Amino acid sequence: MPVVDPVAGVRQIDIWNWSLDMPCGEDAGTGASLSQDELERAARFVKPRDARRYRAGRTGLRSILADYLGTAPQDLRFSYNAFGKPGLGSMGQDPLEFNLSHSADQALLAVSRGFPLGVDIEEIKPIAEDVAGHFFSAAECTELRSYPAADQMPAFYRCWTRKEAFVKAHGAGLSLALDRFDVSLSTRPQQHLRRLDPALGSVQDWTVMNITVSKGFCAAVAILTEGQLVQLRYCGEWRGRPRIASMT
Ligand SMILES: CC(C)(COP(=O)(O)OP(=O)(O)OC[C@H]1O[C@@H](n2cnc3c(N)ncnc32)[C@H](O)[C@@H]1OP(=O)(O)O)[C@@H](O)C(=O)NCCC(=O)NCCS
Repeated sequence: MPVVDPVAGVRQIDIWNWSLDMPCGEDAGTGASLSQDELERAARFVKPRDARRYRAGRTGLRSILADYLGTAPQDLRFSYNAFGKPGLGSMGQDPLEFNLSHSADQALLAVSRGFPLGVDIEEIKPIAEDVAGHFFSAAECTELRSYPAADQMPAFYRCWTRKEAFVKAHGAGLSLALDRFDVSLSTRPQQHLRRLDPALGSVQDWTVMNITVSKGFCAAVAILTEGQLVQLRYCGEWRGRPRIASMT
């Protein structure tokens, strides 16, 4: 499945979002396409529901990526960086880049040709009061406090998912100090990366955007675009038909 560029100069970032509890997820629960290490990891979950969701997530991931590469899901070989970020290694000039996130029953996957990226999806639910102070930068905490009480929880998750997506795109996991960059908490469609420690690169090299997901969830993507224009293409369920949606 090629990543088509329908508008000259604009590159597509494909977004896949599915429920890990849907019937196709149940079918996937057998884990027929999974590797030995994936099956072993699934077996380590205490709750059967968590094991089934993990298998459904990895099965969806393999199924979608295999379609892009024209290969069988079970033939994919993932490599992992020092912080556990999975990749497919170098495969030509525009390697297939991807990142997966899951929260509750929702899985979210972003796929691109040649743009390293990270995604995060979170279920919106009450959070302990000191979490923002612990994880967010001073500028982000100030912006969060500027929201009326009723809007604070969604604003918190907009900040969290944008930061987490950036950390995941960067690939360094928890070793990346979260005060080395600021994101905006705004609902407006715009570049949400506001400040970046110059040692990590330039703000202009990155694009951080909202992803529209199911009610009750919040999601974001961070992409190393290096000045190129990108557009999100919402592809829906992994067995669904692709549809184009505007960038938000
Ligand atoms: C893996 C990590 C990057 C994200 O963990 P998480 O939020 O529990 O998980 P998500 O559901 O978003 O993503 C998990 C997926 O990311 C991928 N992943 C694993 N390590 C990764 C890494 N270092 N970078 C990017 N992606 C990674 C895997 O595909 C994984 O899927 P799997 O569980 O099927 O193997 C975590 O190690 C981490 O460092 N989180 C930062 C936490 C933090 O401080 N957040 C504060 C935000 S304000």
